[in-house]
Amino acid sequence: MPKKDKDGEDVKPVESDNLSDDGLNEVDLVLEKLTELPGVGEATATKLVEYGFTTYESLAVANANELSAITGLPQTLAQKIISSARAQLKFTIKTAYELEQELKDVRRITTGSLNFNKLLGGGVETKAVTEFFGEFGTGKSQLAFQLSVNVQLPPEKGGLQGTTLFIDTEGTFVPTRIRSMAEAQGLNPENALQNVYWIRAINSDHQIAIVEGAKDFVQKHGVRLIAVDSVTSLFRSEYPGRENLASRQQKLNLHLHSLLRLAEIYNLAVVVTNQVMATPDMFYGDPTRAVGGNIIGHTPNNRVYLRKSKGQKRIARLVDSSYLEPGEVVFEITTQGIRDPQE
Ligand code: GTP
Ligand code: MG
Repeated sequence: MPKKDKDGEDVKPVESDNLSDDGLNEVDLVLEKLTELPGVGEATATKLVEYGFTTYESLAVANANELSAITGLPQTLAQKIISSARAQLKFTIKTAYELEQELKDVRRITTGSLNFNKLLGGGVETKAVTEFFGEFGTGKSQLAFQLSVNVQLPPEKGGLQGTTLFIDTEGTFVPTRIRSMAEAQGLNPENALQNVYWIRAINSDHQIAIVEGAKDFVQKHGVRLIAVDSVTSLFRSEYPGRENLASRQQKLNLHLHSLLRLAEIYNLAVVVTNQVMATPDMFYGDPTRAVGGNIIGHTPNNRVYLRKSKGQKRIARLVDSSYLEPGEVVFEITTQGIRDPQE
């Protein structure tokens, strides 16, 4: 007869795969790790796990208000847990020298257009989140596809010899486009397609969970680019209107912070796309403040506003970069992919 637990449910035998060397299963291991944080007992740890806070990283990037609201833990305790998680991860004071050393590790992926690369200080950088935003058809997805191919190139050709994790939230990923872009770059198209790991996110919680759980995958498969196309659409549809703005913003910020953490820890590039609508206001005010344009707030390190020009030409404008010069360049979407304008 199968064993019953205290609620009378059948106790499932634990799969041996889930056992560590000490005979603990994965949940026990997570609980054990969390209870190492000062202020976290077994009951608190169980509650954190229940709400998806299974790593120090997820706690370190949380804010006390939200952690308390989600888990029901008192705010002071939430703050203490967050601080302990940060201390564990050594979110500590650094010297400028150390910081300079870390920045030396930053690598860049070519966009395929020299103009565009120049705008970005050489290409899309690692250890950072780069946002492409603009209205429909401005080339946001095309840029994500192109970078998924280009990241595979050897360094002398502007790549990182890495793979891509492509998180598709709209179902607009086109494998044949990857194939033609790869061919145009002189890559073996089959290999290039094998090096792009695609996952469809079905809702915003799933999207968040994919990123929270991506750490091992990223390490195992040599991921050097994570693309999220689009990062905002599921959040927009699930949290519509002004009344949901605050919770939407909080969730999205947390999500972007976990992406940034992955970028920093694994020295990879994160590219996110964000559709914004052109409105009549754009003719009067700053177009980069268009409806929904500010949904992301200030997490991305580099924000690039895209707009249409003649034919397949597009204009990219760098906004809000912490250290690059603001500016504008023209590029073109060609059969080969993203390129400098032909004439
Ligand atoms: P939304 O996702 O709707 O917000 O738009 P987006 O900004 O992602 O637009 P996308 O990157 O899909 O760009 C669309 C543009 O790229 C279109 O105007 C097409 O002209 C061009 N394009 C897309 N696929 C191809 C292709 O296979 N060959 C060529 N030459 N152009 C393409
Ligand atoms: Mg798109």
